[in-house]
Order: sequence, then C-alpha cells, then structure tokens
Amino acid sequence: MAVHQWLGVTVIAIVFSRIVWGFVGSDTARFSSFLVGPKSVSRYLKRFISRRDDVAFVGHNPAGGWSVMLLLAFLVFQALTGLFSNDDIFFDGPLAGFVGKDLSDVITGLHHQLFEILVILIGAHVVAVIVHWVFKRDNLIRPMVSGVKKFKSDMKAPSLQPAWKAFFIGGASLAILVAALLSLE
Ligand code: HEM
Ligand code: HEM
Repeated sequence: MAVHQWLGVTVIAIVFSRIVWGFVGSDTARFSSFLVGPKSVSRYLKRFISRRDDVAFVGHNPAGGWSVMLLLAFLVFQALTGLFSNDDIFFDGPLAGFVGKDLSDVITGLHHQLFEILVILIGAHVVAVIVHWVFKRDNLIRPMVSGVKKFKSDMKAPSLQPAWKAFFIGGASLAILVAALLSLE
C-alpha cells in the first residue's frame, strides 16, 4: 500500500504539471491549441473514416485532444479518490480521516469503479494509436518520444518551451505534494 500511495501521489503531481503545461507550455501542448468544438471533431472523424486525404496533425488531432482530457480527468479522479480510501484492515489514505469511515467506504467503492473505466479508456487509447499507425501510416509514438515529426507538405513548426521549465514545474509540484502529505503523517 505504501508503494501504491506514493505512485498514486506521483500521478497527481504529473497530471497537475501537465495541466499547468497546458497553459504555459510548448504550442502543441497548450489546451487552446488542441481543444476544438464538436463540429471540428466530427469533420475530422468523417475525413478519417473516408480515407480521402492525409489527415496528419502537428500536435494532437481534434479527436485525440479530447481523449487526452478524458484520460487526464480520470487519472486525477482515480488518484484523488485514493487519498480518501481505506482498505478496511491496515491502511487509510492520508485524507481518509477527514471524511469519516462511512464516506471513506463510499469513496473506496468509487476508487475501484473508476479504475475499471480507466482501464477501458487506456485500452481505447492504445487501440486508437494502433489504428492511426496501421490505417493512416501515421506513427504517433515516434514524435511523442523524439519531439520531431515530418510532413509531406510545408507546415508551420510549433514554438517549443525549454525542457528545464517542464522539469521545474514537475519537480515543484511533486515537492509541494510530498511535503503536504508528510506534514499530515
Ligand atoms: C492513478 C493512481 C491509482 C490507481 C490506478 C489506483 C488503483 C487502485 C486499484 C485498482 C485498487 C483495487 C485493488 C484491489 O482491489 O486489490 C486500489 C485500491 C486502493 N487504493 Fe488506489 N490507485 C491509485 C492511487 C491511489 C492513491 C494516491 C491512494 C492513497 C494514497 C490509493 C489508495 C488505495 C487504497 C486505500 C486502496 C484499498 C481499497 C480496498 O481495499 O478496498 N490509491 N487502487
Ligand atoms: C502501450 C501503451 C501506450 C501507448 C503506445 C501510448 C501512446 C501514446 C501516444 C502515441 C500519445 C501521443 C498521441 C498524439 O500524438 O496525439 C499518447 C499520449 C497520451 N497518453 Fe498514451 N500510450 C500508452 C499508454 C498510456 C497509459 C497507460 C496512459 C494513462 C495511464 C496514457 C495516457 C496518455 C495521455 C494522458 C496522453 C496525452 C499526453 C499529453 O498530451 O501530454 N497512455 N500516448
């Protein structure tokens, strides 16, 4: 449970950093650059299915942008409910004492159910990446790792923020969260 708790807390710090990065990070990481309305998403999906043309994007595509938000939201719910959960025997999440046993039991049930949804979302996410690769010859994994993507036609390159800024935001979030939790113990 101790390992489970600290991995879960790391997830909170990573997702929190990603949300901050969505406002101050590189162009392609900003929510304003990849969150578009339902019409754009359905237009993208129709083009994708009809296979008429090349639909590769700099950064997340219109459907991918919303799937990122869904994954981030469920990761946050999962880890936050964990803080209030208990295992009935040895372990109480660090915030379980604040809500009382009955409510903590309800939240523990939620923590279990959310995980099942998360697994489905992650499965769909991996299938989507494979579908892009197999049917569109659009390898999303390489640019995610290297930060470099090649296009057949000219594209405007996004402006990238320095890596130290990301490490600073990540390190600061983790330090604040760990300090807060240690002070509760
Ligand atoms: C994204 C992060 C997390 C994931 C994916 C996750 C996943 C899970 C899963 C699948 C279980 C059920 C295990 C089982 O039935 O054997 C569980 C139980 C539990 N988790 Fe998490 N968890 C996360 C974060 C946290 C955090 C941050 C805490 C608290 C600090 C926490 C506290 C607990 C507790 C107390 C249980 C036991 C509940 C019980 O026995 O019914 N979890 N977690
Ligand atoms: C074999 C497993 C996985 C593969 C191959 C994979 C692949 C990818 C790829 C290629 C992207 C970039 C998508 C794009 O260019 O638009 C991405 C983004 C993302 N993935 Fe995964 N993924 C995997 C597992 C997971 C898991 C387990 C989670 C959650 C626990 C996850 C959460 C995310 C999130 C939140 C993003 C958005 C990142 C951002 O914009 O900062 N992925 N993944």
